[in-house]
Amino acid sequence: MKVVRTIEEFNQLKVQHQNKSIGFVPTMGYLHEGHTSLMQIARKEQDLVVVSIFVNPLQFGPDEDYDEYPRDELRDEQIAQKNGVDILFLPDVAEIYPKKLNVSMSIKRRADVLCAKNRPGHFNGVITVLTKLFNIVQPDVAYFGLKDAQQVAVVASLIEDLNFPIKLHAAPTIREDDGLAKSSRNVYLSASERKEAKNIYQALLYGRHLFVSGDQSMGKITSEVISFLKVHTTGKIDYVDLLSYPDLKAHIGETEHLILAVAIQYEQARLIDNIIFNKHGEVIETITY
Ligand code: PAJ
Repeated sequence: MKVVRTIEEFNQLKVQHQNKSIGFVPTMGYLHEGHTSLMQIARKEQDLVVVSIFVNPLQFGPDEDYDEYPRDELRDEQIAQKNGVDILFLPDVAEIYPKKLNVSMSIKRRADVLCAKNRPGHFNGVITVLTKLFNIVQPDVAYFGLKDAQQVAVVASLIEDLNFPIKLHAAPTIREDDGLAKSSRNVYLSASERKEAKNIYQALLYGRHLFVSGDQSMGKITSEVISFLKVHTTGKIDYVDLLSYPDLKAHIGETEHLILAVAIQYEQARLIDNIIFNKHGEVIETITY
């Protein structure tokens, strides 16, 4: 595995690997099995696997955890190496943002739902950094996790709207044994928060169960899930929403799937999770664009 920190070094390596298909896994590091599952899928499908680790300041709000975001470069290098990564791209902030940007990017749809509502500017930062990373890496396929399903929907629009010649592979959410979705931020849960955080996934399963049982309206399902969470967690509920996927509208179109998504703010960590299912209640774990 080659570790590179500059765009120039990356370009030099890329020249040596012409005609190879490139699978790209962008991350913010502090790697866990959610990230490595994407690396392993890319490893199976592509000639060259490129992973980036860059904690992108642009996608954090002023009161968010950019400074506290967990970082451990040495450990991450070992994990990437073990998972068959060919090139690990570790740029610093000055490499990605050498000067103040003269252009800005903003999402126009899905800007007022789920994470976009309470994290204004977050997805603008995500699409800005991904545009840069896509242009640097020039992958054939980019791999993302459905744990961040709204991000997947936004990236699909970015690729389509700006004609990036990139396919998108959205892979299953990887969970701890008790169902908690793996997240770099889980390390900031207290022991008691960690114990009860399994109930976030239980709440999603309960919501899907209500949908499958058929006699519940969308509003009733979300309020039942909220009641469940209020009883079983001490975290502050940021949102619980049942929407169409990938459009994220309250009205479910004929062909669309549904997403039941939750965000909970604990003392030191904000956790998100979701479950995507079709009209029969069957869970959708992988989506390719
Ligand atoms: P990060 O949170 O590090 O996540 C990197 C990728 O790993 C994302 O595609 C995310 O959905 C996926 N991922 C995280 N936890 C997962 C889990 N439990 N199961 C499956 N996949 C999981 O998402 C970002 O970084 C950033 O916004 C980024 C896209 C890198 C842009 O800065």
